[in-house]
Amino acid sequence: MTSQNIYILAIESSCDDTAAAVMHNGKILSNIVANQKIHEEYGGVVPELASRAHQQHIVPVVDQALKKASINKEQLSAIAFTRGPGLMGSLLVGTSFAKSLAYGLNIPLIDVNHMQAHILAHFIEEDAFDKPPFPFLAMTISGGHTQIVRVDSHFDMEVIGETIDDAVGEAFDKSGKLLGLGYPAGPEIDRRAKLGNPKAFTFTKPRVDGLNFSFSGLKTAILYFVQKQVKANPNFIEERLDDICASIQYTIIGILIDKLKLASKQTGIKHIAIGGGVSANTGIREALKNGEQKFGWTTYIPKFEYTTDNAAMIAIVGHLKYLEGDYADQSIMASARLKL
Ligand code: KG4
Ligand code: ZN
Repeated sequence: MTSQNIYILAIESSCDDTAAAVMHNGKILSNIVANQKIHEEYGGVVPELASRAHQQHIVPVVDQALKKASINKEQLSAIAFTRGPGLMGSLLVGTSFAKSLAYGLNIPLIDVNHMQAHILAHFIEEDAFDKPPFPFLAMTISGGHTQIVRVDSHFDMEVIGETIDDAVGEAFDKSGKLLGLGYPAGPEIDRRAKLGNPKAFTFTKPRVDGLNFSFSGLKTAILYFVQKQVKANPNFIEERLDDICASIQYTIIGILIDKLKLASKQTGIKHIAIGGGVSANTGIREALKNGEQKFGWTTYIPKFEYTTDNAAMIAIVGHLKYLEGDYADQSIMASARLKL
C-alpha cells in the first residue's frame, strides 16, 4: 500500500467556509479556506447567502488547492466531500461539485461525515503531532456541535454525550453578541479573556445528568446578569468587558472539563483528543494540558489550521476510506442531519 501514490482532493462546504485540500499519502499538500465575511453584518450565518457564496468560491478555491499542491486533475485518485451534517444549501454546492468532478474524471467519489472528520483530523501525517491510540475519547466542540465520542477505531465511534440544546460555539457567539462583539465572537472572547479576571463574576453551571451538555441556560443567565449590571451602570460592559469575557470563558471551560473528567472515569480511557472550532480556544487548550498532571491524561490537540472548518480533515477521511475501498456512488445525496 505504501508504495502507492494516493492523491485525494477534498471539498468542504457544510457551513460558511468554502474549503479545498489536496492530500498525498496522508500528508497535506494544500489546504485552502475562503471565509465568508458577509455573515458578520448579520451576527450569524445566513444560509441563503452562504450557499450563494459557496457557488462563487468553489471553483477558484479548488483551482488554488490544485495549483498550490502542484498537481493536475488527472493525477487525482479520488474526490472526497462533506456529505453532512450542515446547512442543506451549503452542502448541496460541495456535493454536486464533487460528484460532477469525480464523474468527469472517472475516479472514485468518497462521502465524508463532517463530525467524523473533526475527530480524524488527528490522523493527518504531521511530524510534530502524535496520533491518539485506540481507544480514545474525542470531544468535538464547534459552532454546531458539542459531543463526547468514544473512538475504538477510525470508523468505529460512539457518541456517549452531547448537547441537548445549544452548541458550545453558540454559547461563545451568543454571549459575545449580547456584549456587542462581532460574529463569530469566540476568538474575540478568547483574546479578551487573557486580559481579564476569570473569577470576577460567577455564572451558575447547568445541571445536566451524565455526559450530556446544556448551554442555553448559561446564555440566559449571562443576559440577565448583563441587563441588571447595565441598569446600575450604563458603562458596565465597556468598563468590565475583559473580566466578563474571562468569566464566561472560565465557566464554559469548567463545564467541558467536568464532563470530560466524568467520561474518562466512566470509560477508564485517559487518551483525550479535541477537535472543532472551539478547540482553537487558548483556555481549553491550557485546561486540557493541565489535565495531564491533574488526571493522568494524555491529550491530543490538533494543529491550529485543522481545528476550525477545513478540507484537510475531509481529505484524511477520504484517504482512510480510499484505503478500504469504501466509495460512494453517484446517487448519493447531501444529508443535513447526518449522524456520526
Ligand atoms: O468548527 P467550526 O469552524 O464550525 C462549525 O462546524 O461550527 O467552529 C466555529 C465555532 C464558532 O462558534 C467560533 O466562535 C468558535 O468555533 N471558535 C472559538 C475560537 N475560535 C473559533 N471559540 C472560542 N475560542 C476560540 N479561539
Ligand atoms: Zn465543523
